[in-house]
Amino acid sequence: MTIRPTSFALAAFAGFALLAACGSGDAPAASVDAETAALPLSNGMTAAETIDARQTHLKAVGKAFKTISDGLKESEPDMAALQAAAASVPAETATMADWFPDGSGPASGVKTDALPVIWEARADFDSKMADFTAAAATLDTAAQAGDIPAITEAFKATGATCKACHQTYRADD
Ligand code: HEC
Repeated sequence: MTIRPTSFALAAFAGFALLAACGSGDAPAASVDAETAALPLSNGMTAAETIDARQTHLKAVGKAFKTISDGLKESEPDMAALQAAAASVPAETATMADWFPDGSGPASGVKTDALPVIWEARADFDSKMADFTAAAATLDTAAQAGDIPAITEAFKATGATCKACHQTYRADD
């Protein structure tokens, strides 16, 4: 009794898998992907534009972080350079809340290290973003005050918020 429906379901699944396999390999499916990638998302940008913009901003944040990290290793850091780098982090990430709209994950067909779990655990992702924003603001305040021990502490705290997000939501980390 149970064998019949199971084998029917398996046959149906095999048929579906076959169709899916055909669809993903030929030209029409590729052009559907291209059309999907060109549709505006909730931030008014396409997936390709969204992903390119967030990667560009994050690259700049990574560079600023390297400047701060290198500076803190010196006995007499270049305070102006530290201050500029610390100030650039909140500036670069001011629009971060709009960087990960629905449709800007890997399913868009655009190359991205953002993992699909972002859109499955949105509340947690947003709270990681809020932790980062708060820490980066504290780091900027410490830098503008020129207080090296406070900068060092805030730098570590901010770095931990980068890592906390990356380890769950970014590929290759
Ligand atoms: C709320 C999550 C989150 C926080 C916080 C976060 N990141 Fe990321 N980061 C990501 C995701 C997701 C990607 C992958 C983006 C993509 O490929 O579309 C990424 C990518 C990057 C990249 C690679 C950009 C590229 O494509 O070249 C760098 C560098 C980076 N992050 C640095 C940082 C630093 C430094 C911090 C902290 C100061 C930080 N990030 C905080 C989620 C986050």
